Amino acid sequence: MQINNLKLVNFRSYSHQYFDFNPRLNIIIGKNGIGKTNLVEAIYTLAIAKSFRTNNDCLLIKKDEKMALIKAEIQDKNVNEFKLSIENTGKSVLINDTKISRLSEYISQINVILFNPSDLKIIKDTPSIRRKMLNIEISQLDFSYLKYLQDYNKVLKQRNYYLKNKDNILNDDDFLMILTKQLINLGLIINQKRQNFITEINKYVSSLYYQITGLTSFNVKYVSEFNEKDQHDLLFLYEESLKRDVLFKKTHMGIHHDDLDFVVNNDSLKDFGSEGQQKNAIISFKLAELEVFYHLKQTYPILIFDDLFSELDKEKLNNILKLLNNKVQTFITTTEIDKINASLLNNCKIFNIRDKNVIDVEEVN
Ligand SMILES: Nc1ncnc2c1ncn2[C@@H]1O[C@H](COP(=O)(O)OP(=O)(O)O)[C@@H](O)[C@H]1O
Ligand SMILES: [Mg+2]
Repeated sequence: MQINNLKLVNFRSYSHQYFDFNPRLNIIIGKNGIGKTNLVEAIYTLAIAKSFRTNNDCLLIKKDEKMALIKAEIQDKNVNEFKLSIENTGKSVLINDTKISRLSEYISQINVILFNPSDLKIIKDTPSIRRKMLNIEISQLDFSYLKYLQDYNKVLKQRNYYLKNKDNILNDDDFLMILTKQLINLGLIINQKRQNFITEINKYVSSLYYQITGLTSFNVKYVSEFNEKDQHDLLFLYEESLKRDVLFKKTHMGIHHDDLDFVVNNDSLKDFGSEGQQKNAIISFKLAELEVFYHLKQTYPILIFDDLFSELDKEKLNNILKLLNNKVQTFITTTEIDKINASLLNNCKIFNIRDKNVIDVEEVN
């Protein structure tokens, strides 16, 4: 899969800008604060219908403007035109000028894997950050996933609302039972999909870790209260935790507590991993994701490396680029082009952002 071109109108620092991309490697250079991340953020936002930097879509609209537009031609088996417009009142997505009303149907269409410095901390971060990563990746692979997740969150909210108001306005235990059963059924579906995804990841991650570090025995563990349980077991467990739920007025059990554990030689990197080990593990994980996408979709996703040269050593990153050679359309942002090995700089395009609206483009053959 590749993005052929991109048109931006009033997106972040860009007023009107058009880009024609290289099918293989695109390098975006420029000094700090010039708009490099804004450019890759536009690609990511078009794919996921959400930025990786903010939940507030209004911040994506250029200051003092009313509407932002991102438009691109995406080439997969066919070429399709994708358009995302953002206004203060909301956003809309179109494929070939047809409006798509369900976001869950839209975001499995353009596949993007983003890798930026904050990912390097993901292993030690809070579980919610790891769940978010998991949700984004699986939503791109399986368009029903997001729908189930949205439904689960809706039921969870209802159940928590019921628990909060049980004493005064409501007291209908049949209703609580219905919500609990719905939560279990949706949770089991989501658990299975997460499990399948991590099983796929583990087919590749260990050998990638070996290629990077020369060490073996790395895998990713999916931690969930729903693992290896059926509806009957779970009903019993929800029954058991009901007193606690009522006391604290919230739902304690469920896939909203799931987590990932990155394990080397049976030790969790969360507790024992050095910074270097964690970086290698997350690189392996990201590269494994590429393979999982390829395996399931017969096409590689678009890959974005945002500002990674500031965090990873030059040698390592160049080796990764060599590993990806020609397979994956890649976008790299960096302040210094010198960090990229000269041998890799062929058949690529370099976008040198000199000023907000002055971009030099150099094609290297
Ligand atoms: N909504 C917006 N309107 C106008 N400018 C914006 C908006 N959002 C961010 N910017 C500008 O974009 C710049 C940051 O761009 P960014 O792509 O993050 O830089 P970098 O090249 O370091 O990656 C800042 O100068 C900021 O003022
Ligand atoms: Mg940046």
